[in-house]
Amino acid sequence: MMLNIGNLKIQSSYLLAPMSGVTDYPYREIVKTFKPGLVFSEMIASRALISQNLKTIRMMKKTENCISAIQIAGCDPEIMKEAAIICEDNGADLIDINMGCPVKKVVNGYAGSALMKDELLAKKILESVANSVKIPVTLKMRKGWDDNSLNAPRIAKIAEESGIKMITIHGRTRCQMYKGKSDWKFVKNVKEVVDIPVLVNGDITSIVDLNQAIKESGANGVMIGRGSYGRPWIFQEFRNGLENAFKLKKNKKKEIILNHFELNLQHYGKEVGLKSFRKHLGWYSKSLNNSNEFRRKINQCEDESKIRSFINDFFEV
Ligand SMILES: Cc1cc2nc3c(=O)[nH]c(=O)nc-3n(C[C@H](O)[C@H](O)[C@H](O)COP(=O)(O)O)c2cc1C
Repeated sequence: MMLNIGNLKIQSSYLLAPMSGVTDYPYREIVKTFKPGLVFSEMIASRALISQNLKTIRMMKKTENCISAIQIAGCDPEIMKEAAIICEDNGADLIDINMGCPVKKVVNGYAGSALMKDELLAKKILESVANSVKIPVTLKMRKGWDDNSLNAPRIAKIAEESGIKMITIHGRTRCQMYKGKSDWKFVKNVKEVVDIPVLVNGDITSIVDLNQAIKESGANGVMIGRGSYGRPWIFQEFRNGLENAFKLKKNKKKEIILNHFELNLQHYGKEVGLKSFRKHLGWYSKSLNNSNEFRRKINQCEDESKIRSFINDFFEV
C-alpha cells in the first residue's frame, strides 16, 4: 500500500513510530533494512533543538536512503517553528508534532498530550510549524485527554485546515497512559472528518492485528512501536503479508543483532553504547530458551568483546 504525505510518496504504509529511548539512529538503521514506509526519530524537545546541544544533534542524525522523520515537542509556537526549520536544514524529510506524549515531565510543560486540552494553542502551533517549512508536517495524538474529552476529530480538522499533511492516532486517552487496549474503531471518527491520510496506532503486533486495525479504523496505514522490539523485520513481514512465511535465513538474526550492537557502540561510545544495548538484547532474546540466563550475563558484563561472544553463542542455534 502506497501513501502520499503532502508531496512525499511513501512506498509502504507501515511506519516505525517515534519512541524515546528506542528509535535512535542505530535502531533506525536496523529497521530501515526491512523497508518501513519511513522511520521516526525519538521525540526531541523544541527548546533543546534550538540550543543545538550534542545530544539533540545526535538525535537528529539523518537515516540515509530512507524517508527520515523527526518528531518535535513543545508548547511555544515560535520555538516550535524555529525547531522545525533546524530539522529541515538538517535534512529531515518530514516533521511530526507530538500531541500524544503522556509523561508528566512533558505534559506539565503543557506539551505532548496536554496540547489536546488547549485547542487554540494547538492551532497556533500547527499553523506556525506547517507554515515555516517546505517539507510536510504531520501530527501524532491520542483520542483525547480523558474519556470526557475525546476531541481528536476536532483537532484533526483544525490540523488539516492549518496545513498538516497526515494524522496518526494512538487509540488511547492521555489518562489511560498505556493501560487498556488501543481503540482502533475510534480512529474512524477522525478518518471521517479529514481528507488527509490518517494512520492508526497502538497494539499492532501481528498481521491479524494489522488487518483488524485497518478494517475497524478505515485508516490509510499504521504506525508500529513496541511490536518492533526485538523484531525489526516486522515491517517486512507486514509488507509480505506473511508473518510466518518470512523466515530469516540461518544466522541472519545474529548478524542483525551484532550489526545493531556495533552501530550502538559507534553512535554512543563504548560505555553508553553497551548499557543502552541491554534492553535490545532483552527483546531479541525474549521467549528463547535460556534467555533469563543470557540476560543475567549481559546485564553484568561491561566488556564489549565478551558481549559479542555471548551474542555469538546464544544466537547460534
Ligand atoms: C518507550 C516508548 C517511548 C515512546 N516515545 C514516544 C515519543 O517520543 N513520541 C511519540 O509520539 N510517542 C511515543 N511513544 C508512543 C508510541 O509512538 C506509540 O504511540 C505507542 O507506543 C502505541 O503504539 P505501539 O502499541 O505500537 O507501541 C512511546 C512509546 C514507548 C513504549
